[in-house]
Amino acid sequence: MSKKRVAVLISGRGSNMTALIEAAKAKDYPAEIVLVVSNRPEAPGLARARAAGVETAVVDHAQFGEDREAFERALDGELRAHRIDLVCLAGFMRLLTPWFVTRWSGRMLNIHPALLPQFKGLQTHRRALAAGVKRHGATVHFVVPEMDAGPIVAQDSIAVGDGDTEETLAERVLEVEHRIYPRALRIVAEGRASLVSTGKQESTR
Ligand code: GRF
Repeated sequence: MSKKRVAVLISGRGSNMTALIEAAKAKDYPAEIVLVVSNRPEAPGLARARAAGVETAVVDHAQFGEDREAFERALDGELRAHRIDLVCLAGFMRLLTPWFVTRWSGRMLNIHPALLPQFKGLQTHRRALAAGVKRHGATVHFVVPEMDAGPIVAQDSIAVGDGDTEETLAERVLEVEHRIYPRALRIVAEGRASLVSTGKQESTR
């Protein structure tokens, strides 16, 4: 079976992107990272991708002003031009409209630094500490129109200790992210998980 062609969408440093690129070097990995797209021209991850020999593109959301649809059409055009099969959001800090999400439905994953459905949205480590949870972690899920709400493909956790701070949690959760994202992409690329619509709600099968 031929490898799935994957694009990773980033906005920043791209450590999850790097984890995916590294994992995809393995001969038996079912996906190859053929493109990295950033919505920010200054994202440090772009240089990391180039250094790893991966083609990069910038679709700068600022160029499109308030016109989200035009931004997403440009993004979609880039992905189609590269014959992308699967999209991995990795620290991509733009909300995507239902138009784009529906277009890539079942073919787009996101990583979130919390144990979904807990702590959707931003500042997850701060909120986990404030809530006093004893376990915290990261989740890879299919992207659906509702933010951070898609069916879960992979998830793992760490213990939260008394001495933990936002920084120490962020560090340990990031290690979890780097471990589970390549695993989740493998599962989806091999067709072992797919998004099914039950009419009211999506789930994995
Ligand atoms: C990660 O924690 C990811 O879960 C998120 O933003 C961060 C991106 O880090 N939502 P990186 O760019 O992959 O290093």
